[in-house]
Amino acid sequence: MKVIKTNKALRGKLAFLRSQGKSIGFVPTMGAFHEGHVSLMRRCVKENDITVVSLFVNPLQFGPREDLARYPRNLKRDIEMASAVNVDFLFVPSLQEIYPEPLSTFVQVGKIGNILCGASRPGHFQGVATVVLKLLNIVQPCVIYLGQKDAQQVAVIKRMIFDLNIPVSVVICPTSREADGLAMSSRNIYLSPTERRDAVVLNKALRMGARLIAFGERDGGKIISKIKKLILEGSSASIDYVSIVEISGFAPVRRISKDVLIVIAVKFGTTRLIDNVIVKVHGK
Ligand code: PAJ
Repeated sequence: MKVIKTNKALRGKLAFLRSQGKSIGFVPTMGAFHEGHVSLMRRCVKENDITVVSLFVNPLQFGPREDLARYPRNLKRDIEMASAVNVDFLFVPSLQEIYPEPLSTFVQVGKIGNILCGASRPGHFQGVATVVLKLLNIVQPCVIYLGQKDAQQVAVIKRMIFDLNIPVSVVICPTSREADGLAMSSRNIYLSPTERRDAVVLNKALRMGARLIAFGERDGGKIISKIKKLILEGSSASIDYVSIVEISGFAPVRRISKDVLIVIAVKFGTTRLIDNVIVKVHGK
């Protein structure tokens, strides 16, 4: 695996490989790798001739009171983990490389990026969409790999790709979980031992919601109330949102008649965790 720091070096190498007809797959990340990241890399390596992983902690997607300064960083370990699954290029640009000048141009994300996580984190999805578009222009992959864990991010990026005719296909990978069901996240290390124990309630609550729908409950409001109750009774969490939405458009669903996504964001102390489950509705 080659670790590459500049746009120019990466573009040069990839232009050559592209001219030889090699397919290029791309996994954007902010590092602090865990099994979730690695599952995306493995899938990309399996499905493409060349795999590019970017590692860039993007200041544009962090709010002023968020965890940019203390976001976990461990380049040495990340290099080992990516190299162990045969990634070809780990792109680790500096801040200066990605933002040589303060940007004058941004991707404006619209409603899909301004509800739920977008409402709690103003500007977050504009920052995500803008950096992903920049990275797509640098790497020019055939396929981008994204995790279902960040369901709203997937919806925002898919919509950007559609709206702006970006020539890339999207592969969504399932959420990797710890043995007790907690979705893997670089932010889980912020949790105290008690919070870590309590955090299993997220997955439990989502599974309960899915079960209610499987047993025929169609009233979104009732399901949301039960999920909130379970979370508040079983943990020290404060709820940011619990919502049931359409899978691609993220529009809220009151009466469930087709497949939906249950999405949750809760805070344990200062640590904000998100999770979601896709629920298929049979006998619609
Ligand atoms: P990051 O949080 O590092 O995540 C990188 C990719 O890994 C994303 O597509 C995310 O959805 C996926 N991922 C994270 N946890 C996962 C899990 N438990 N199972 C499966 N996939 C998981 O998401 C970002 O970085 C940034 O916003 C980025 C897209 C790189 C733009 O800066």
